[in-house]
Amino acid sequence: MIRSPLMTVMVQAARKAGRSLVRDFGEVENLQVSLKGPANFVSNADRKAEKILHEELAKARPGFGFILEESGEIDGTDESHRWIIDPLDGTTNFLHGIPLFAISIGLVRDGVPIAGLIFNPVTDELFIAEKGAGAFMNDRRIRVAARRSLADSVISCGVPHMGRGDLGQFAREYLAIGPKVSGLRRTGAAALDLAWVAAGRFDAFWERGLSPWDMAAGIVLVREAGGYVSDLDDGDKMLAKGDIIVGNEVIRRDLLTVLRKA
Ligand code: IPD
Ligand code: CA
Ligand code: CA
Repeated sequence: MIRSPLMTVMVQAARKAGRSLVRDFGEVENLQVSLKGPANFVSNADRKAEKILHEELAKARPGFGFILEESGEIDGTDESHRWIIDPLDGTTNFLHGIPLFAISIGLVRDGVPIAGLIFNPVTDELFIAEKGAGAFMNDRRIRVAARRSLADSVISCGVPHMGRGDLGQFAREYLAIGPKVSGLRRTGAAALDLAWVAAGRFDAFWERGLSPWDMAAGIVLVREAGGYVSDLDDGDKMLAKGDIIVGNEVIRRDLLTVLRKA
């Protein structure tokens, strides 16, 4: 597989930030037993990774703007290109020493996601895609799963917690979909949920209340893996609305039908 110059830049930045996260993740395990806990340490790790990504990408593509989860929006001289970055998706997992987290780098051109990278530096799984060029995991082509029935499907979702999201709505959806599928999962890292749908591990994923940096890279990955992406009104305003549902054509549609009736 020959990587484009753009993707080469994205991969280099992600690997550098990934090394920083892995070093800090090792420390987090030691901090679990301290009374203060690792919370401050983790937000530091998060900011450090973001700084690396920002510096590397700004150096390689001067002019592109940024939306960074921790530092906010930074306008560039190039008004059409913007990086949308989550330096650490799955913070709660990271904080608890659970190795399910990722760096997510999306690139949008005039509001349309055109390149995506999602990297779990602990498992060393690197998911990349560019519009029109397919999706890959560690340089091997990936495709969404081909299952055609909800009964055979394993579906991932977001679960509202501690004042976030509508628990009542989720409970209704769970009651509607739970009995119809092979299994429901909750990873705690939306970027990985999307990457894993692209890789055919999950048959579908839906979540509400997300931010653009949770989704921008994953949208490109799922589409380039042959999957379908929409918001929960079946439109394409995922980044603006913060909700998303993805899967192959049939499973996404059938899941959406069940959720809308719930
Ligand atoms: C969170 C994760 C989680 C999702 C939350 C996100 P963070 O991102 O993606 O899976 O349910 O809505 O905020 O805070 O770990 O970057
Ligand atoms: Ca996130
Ligand atoms: Ca984050």
